[in-house]
Amino acid sequence: QPIEAAAVEVKSEAAKRVKIGIYFATWWALNVVFNIYNKKVLNAYPYPYPWLTSTLSLACGSLMMLISWATRIAETPKTDFEFWKTLFPVAVAHTIGHVAATVSMSKVAVSFTHIIKSGEPAFSVLVSRFLLGETFPPSVYLSLVPIIGGCALAAVTELNFNMTGFMGAMISNFAFVLRNIFSKKGMKGKSVSGMNYYACLSLLSLLILTPFAVAVEGPQMWAAGWKKALSEIGPQFVWWVAAQSVFYHLYNQVSYMSLDEISPLTFSIGNTMKRISVIVSSIIIFHTPVQPVNALGAAIAVLGTFLYSQFRRTISIMNKSMECHLKKNY
Ligand code: 3PG
Repeated sequence: QPIEAAAVEVKSEAAKRVKIGIYFATWWALNVVFNIYNKKVLNAYPYPYPWLTSTLSLACGSLMMLISWATRIAETPKTDFEFWKTLFPVAVAHTIGHVAATVSMSKVAVSFTHIIKSGEPAFSVLVSRFLLGETFPPSVYLSLVPIIGGCALAAVTELNFNMTGFMGAMISNFAFVLRNIFSKKGMKGKSVSGMNYYACLSLLSLLILTPFAVAVEGPQMWAAGWKKALSEIGPQFVWWVAAQSVFYHLYNQVSYMSLDEISPLTFSIGNTMKRISVIVSSIIIFHTPVQPVNALGAAIAVLGTFLYSQFRRTISIMNKSMECHLKKNY
């Protein structure tokens, strides 16, 4: 009997790994497509309109989910006031992180935004240390040296450096670290699935973002931009906008479906590895000029993130086994 139970456990563990592997691969592929269409759309307008582009992607995702609920393709989530109250700070962080990343990509190469965004673990440590009071062993702090150093090297050697582009990616890092911490807390013990959690997040973010987008850019500017983009690119421009919006929702939805199953730490490791595929594919597709020293900076930053994740994983394994030991003995 115990052998059978162990075999069942090993099987379900293997099935879980396969499932997470599929989620990760889908998430990365959807993200690459999103990034390509997002940049194509931003480049198409006479002025990039990052606020409009961000709003449209949230609006499209919200609409898709409202239709899925109405037609019962997806189960409507059962939520209460408490749920939306807890979701509010997550939505504020999501909105800020989303707009900031889009503003960044409107100013610099997609690859540069993602190189800076690969520094997200450094923000995670700072937020955990100074806002949550968590402490880490020296190995974790040391692993931040290549992350920060690599990002800095990539930034100073970036041929098309732009301060707004750089700051946008930094703000996005900070906002998304907060979003992921709050999300995992908000999802814990709740009956709302990862997919529906992200749908509600999209809806709330859309409500938060729309008035700001109207105030910063506004319908008059947008109408002029669309007219120009349509006359220069033709009807396929509408498809580009649709693709960037649909893929934005899908990749985030899949990422939340995996966050439902994994820790925020594994999530951020998956996210950083995702950036390698985005950096490489966008350099190839957009013919981004890269100097060897610039590529070296990016490689050091990504390697630093890998080391960081290994150190944090070791700590979490040690903490878990310590907890088990204490439970057994006391
Ligand atoms: C956005 O617009 O929200 C960003 O492109 C997202 O970036 P990330 O999901 O790769 O962190």
